[in-house]
Amino acid sequence: MDSILVTGNGPLNGQIPIAGAKNACLTLMPATLLSEEPLTLTNAPRLSDIKTMTALLQSLGAEVSSLQDGQVQAMSSHDLTSQTADYEIVRKMRASNLVLGPLLARFGHAVVSLPGGCAIGARPMDLHVEGLEALGAEIELKDGYLYAKAAGGLKGAVHEMRFASVGATENIVMAATLAKGTTVLKNAAREPEIVDLVECLRKMGAQIAGEGTSTIEIQGVDRLHGATHQVVTDRIELGTYMLAPAICGGEVELLGGRMRLVESFAAKLDAAGVSVEETDKGLKVTRKNGRVAAVDVVTEPFPGFPTDLQAQMMALMCTAEGASVLEERIFENRFMHAPELVRMGADIEVHGGTATVKGVERLKGAPVMATDLRASVSLILAGLAAEGETTVSRVYHLDRGYEHVVRKLEGVGAKIERIKG
Ligand code: UD1
Repeated sequence: MDSILVTGNGPLNGQIPIAGAKNACLTLMPATLLSEEPLTLTNAPRLSDIKTMTALLQSLGAEVSSLQDGQVQAMSSHDLTSQTADYEIVRKMRASNLVLGPLLARFGHAVVSLPGGCAIGARPMDLHVEGLEALGAEIELKDGYLYAKAAGGLKGAVHEMRFASVGATENIVMAATLAKGTTVLKNAAREPEIVDLVECLRKMGAQIAGEGTSTIEIQGVDRLHGATHQVVTDRIELGTYMLAPAICGGEVELLGGRMRLVESFAAKLDAAGVSVEETDKGLKVTRKNGRVAAVDVVTEPFPGFPTDLQAQMMALMCTAEGASVLEERIFENRFMHAPELVRMGADIEVHGGTATVKGVERLKGAPVMATDLRASVSLILAGLAAEGETTVSRVYHLDRGYEHVVRKLEGVGAKIERIKG
């Protein structure tokens, strides 16, 4: 298994290009199932999660070609041979459940495996099921699979979600595009990836209003057609690399970054003493001398502070001046990076969903283990700021969400290499 060797090496300077959003691409790809005509996505990130979604779509009979070094996904669901998402693929990636809404809407039935336990919490699908049932689907759980059917087709309805789940919003919105009549989805998630999905669905002929707010209204249409769509910038990759100069000092411009994608996160960096400025090419992040100030963080649905940046923010807080409290409100059990950071000399105490981090002058390099996608990159960030060498093992987690991480960080002066193992 490969590992990553990082050596703490002073300030970082230069530019880092930010890729298309993994999480947007993972909902845009299943949208192809809604139409017989091809859907082409540009600016797709080159990640193992995208390969997993490709394999899932292919297992349903869709044609998927990865063009221009993987940055273009050309897909056609003209002839599908199956409406079953098998456990063998779904267990690898929870986002596989995003085929449920589109398959049900287009074919009137679908069988999708439950994702099973996940390292960062239970992650059930009850909100997806409740929303699709409100549209008239009958869904039964049998042998670990959701059997969904809507014999006479889905019908528009007013539905309020108990919690603004990202995936449930995506599944319900996709399903409602082909339902009869109007659907009003209340307490919908507002993430930029949902706005991106709606923009793509609209290009395919869907009639949708209100994306980016907590009420989305969808007027069902008979069919959707093909389209070409550019995947929105990855705000989590953006935020992650914004932390590199914040942790090491220096000035780095994140190409393609926009403030509207990371407003609440940038406000926290600002409070910590790190400057974030919008340029015509992206976002410029600067930290001059001295340690950053400790800031408290509470993770919330968008536009709040993203849970997917909590681990990386914790790495920054490890060397801040003072103590910070990080409260995780989206996922239970999402502090598995904390004991690894402690191995590097951090002072962290975890009680339930709250971590208290007392900043230390300097972290020390150590062998550490990646436990999930965002935890793995937080350890790399910590390693960049530590004294000596840090080896991060189990980097297959990293490959799910960060393309060319070594090349991107080397480009701004980091000492980092991938060790084949
Ligand atoms: C998406 C993102 C993930 C991010 C998360 C929260 C993708 C592919 N993944 O995941 O990176 O961390 O949003 O911003 O876009 N829940 C239920 N019942 C449900 C659905 C969810 O209880 O039916 C709970 C989950 O267990 C979790 C919380 O709601 O505690 C948030 O989940 P959700 O917003 O659905 O996240 P995902 O769409 O899975």
